Amino acid sequence: MDKIVMKGGTALHGEVEVSGAKNAALPILASALLADGTTTFRNVPDLADVATMLEVLRTMGCEAARLTGKKADTCEISIAGTITPEAPYELVKTMRASVLVLGPLVARFGRARVSMPGGCAIGARPIDQHLKGLKALGADIHLTEGYVEARAKQLKGGMVNFDVITVTGTENVMMAAVLAKGRTVMENCAREPEVEELARVLNKMGAKVEGAGTSVITIEGVESLNPVDHAILPDRIEAGTLLVAAAISGGNVLVKHARPEHLDAVMDKLREAGCTLTVEDGGIRCKAPRSLKSVNITTTEHPGFPTDMQAQLMALMTVSHGTSVISENIFENRFMHVPELHRLGADITIQGHTAVVKGVKKLSGAPVMATDLRASASLILAGLVADGQTEVSRVYHLDRGYERLERKLRGLGAEIRRVKERA
Ligand code: EPZ
Repeated sequence: MDKIVMKGGTALHGEVEVSGAKNAALPILASALLADGTTTFRNVPDLADVATMLEVLRTMGCEAARLTGKKADTCEISIAGTITPEAPYELVKTMRASVLVLGPLVARFGRARVSMPGGCAIGARPIDQHLKGLKALGADIHLTEGYVEARAKQLKGGMVNFDVITVTGTENVMMAAVLAKGRTVMENCAREPEVEELARVLNKMGAKVEGAGTSVITIEGVESLNPVDHAILPDRIEAGTLLVAAAISGGNVLVKHARPEHLDAVMDKLREAGCTLTVEDGGIRCKAPRSLKSVNITTTEHPGFPTDMQAQLMALMTVSHGTSVISENIFENRFMHVPELHRLGADITIQGHTAVVKGVKKLSGAPVMATDLRASASLILAGLVADGQTEVSRVYHLDRGYERLERKLRGLGAEIRRVKERA
């Protein structure tokens, strides 16, 4: 297991490029199951989770691979021959988003056997809404031996009203409805840009999806879909993380390909904390203030403040002036970075789903342990400003969602490197 070793105190300067969006790539790779032939996706980030999704597709009998050389950001998926519509526990347990193959498999092949994802570090994360939506479209759903068995000779359009706003739930049902017979109306949908991006791909394939990005999505089912060639949108969470890196280090960084329209809530909070943010050269520039102000954060569904940026803003608040109250309303256990930030000298008190962060003058470097994807980013951000050396272990968590983050930060002047941990 690798670790990240870094020395804090350098203000980051320069420009950095954001990779393709992990949370768009995962459903979009699954959508390739809906069309015969070879589908090409570009700007696909080179992440562990993406590699797992490609493996899931190959396990079913698809050809699914990342090209090499100049086209290393491109993945090709070919659906030909017999597909075994199954996603095994061994793979699903490592990446819960594998459950996104459920909708496409039932819609296209009439059946699916997909392992239940099981628990996750940040919360229970059930998939009851995914199953509710598929049932509303006429699928027979049975849970046996930890697997979801879904069958449907032909899905039929229907009404789906989600009890809970769910990103992958919205995506799964959308991918089922595009081949259902008749009209589907989905209400209380997730409005994330990644949901819109999936709808864009499906419509390119010949689907008829309207309203993606709003809470009501209407889909007219079609007979079949065609393979496409599509470049995936930039990762707004990576972009937000890099903006915070500029802010916490006292630097001035241009984050290229960051889209302001996807980062309103995050940009608002960084400005409230005193940062100067400007939109320029196809990206967003963040200039840190001389001293950061504490701000309050409440995570909600998009377009509210994203839960995936909570840990990163908490790192920033540990060295801001004042007290910040951070409420995590999406997941029930997404404060695992707090005990590790304490090791760096942060002053944080947890009260239920709220964390009270009192800014301190300085953090001191120490060995810390990543516990989940965004927690690992939070610890690296804190290490940028902590005095002395910080070592972040278990960075396999980081590699699930960030493409060579330490290389990008080193390119901005950070003293940071990856060390292979002795087995
Ligand atoms: C997506 O997860 C993202 N992952 C997560 O990003 C992100 O944190 C989350 O949306 C919220 O924005 C991908 O898109 C691959 P949810 P998802 O279903 O879809 C409850 C990251 O760091 N719920 O929107 O799994 C659930 O327990 C990852 O990149 C049900 O109760 O999240 C949670 O409390 C982490 N029943 C809330 O809804 C369901 O059937 C939101 O979950 C589904 C969800």
